[in-house]
Amino acid sequence: MILAGVDGSHAAREAAAWAAREAGLRGADLTVAYAMPRWACETDSGRYSEVAAWMRQSATEVLEAAAERARQERPEVSLTSRYLPGDPRTALIRAAADAELLVVGNHGVGGVRGLLIGSVAYGVAGHAPCPVVVVRGLPREARNEVVVGVSGNVAALEFAFAEAALRDARLLAVHVRAEDEPPDALKLLAESRERHLGVAVVEQVVDGDPATVLREAGTGAELLVVGSRGHGAVAGMVLGSVSQALLHHASCPLAVVGPSEAGR
Ligand SMILES: Nc1ncnc2c1ncn2[C@@H]1O[C@H](COP(=O)(O)OP(=O)(O)OP(=O)(O)O)[C@@H](O)[C@H]1O
Ligand SMILES: [Mg+2]
Repeated sequence: MILAGVDGSHAAREAAAWAAREAGLRGADLTVAYAMPRWACETDSGRYSEVAAWMRQSATEVLEAAAERARQERPEVSLTSRYLPGDPRTALIRAAADAELLVVGNHGVGGVRGLLIGSVAYGVAGHAPCPVVVVRGLPREARNEVVVGVSGNVAALEFAFAEAALRDARLLAVHVRAEDEPPDALKLLAESRERHLGVAVVEQVVDGDPATVLREAGTGAELLVVGSRGHGAVAGMVLGSVSQALLHHASCPLAVVGPSEAGR
């Protein structure tokens, strides 16, 4: 099941549409989910029951608009919509336990102007038990290419190969050399290539600032894939500096893959 988190925003509906296309490619079901406070889900008598009923009504409208956008995109995909009780980040992370992929927009209805990513999108990336795609910067015609930042994260590589195979797309594997780099990143890439001989791969080894290089490489691509953290990550941090920077600045849909999840 692919889970799309939606609020009332255009960005979220486009995320639901992206998730529907992905579900179509994978032959997976799609669940569209909207999180709202637990009391609003449960209160049906007493002083706040009218407010709660009104909130549930709004939630139904949010879900219906997103579901309609998803259906318009891929009518054949089996679709469920539901509201989730609780804080959106926590609720989405919990609901993602049953998901193979969580998809969100880069911003929502809140959105402090000038911020490049909303707190829900930022808060689920790297924290969900499955890979997270943050949808943004959809070009009218993406080039048929998936881009992956090559580091020591095998799960990210495997995810990227699988996504390229699904789309019959080329995989651009970019390794940005760093002083403290693990010697095995390119070896891991070679091993992944062996496992996915059907995917056409272009390898690039370059110098520079990893986030900047990957942002540029991803521009106009269908998807940019990175591991949630690199080899240099400070212990205890869930997101490495490259994935953090790309969550703010990527110019195409961004997949953040944790260390041990190649997509279940
Ligand atoms: N209540 C929610 N339920 C489910 N998904 C949500 C909810 N709120 C946001 N999302 C998902 O997260 C994406 C980003 O929204 P987010 O809330 O992070 O940004 P924002 O509203 O612009 O900023 P913020 O809420 O931090 O002020 C949305 O496009 C949607 O996919
Ligand atoms: Mg919000």
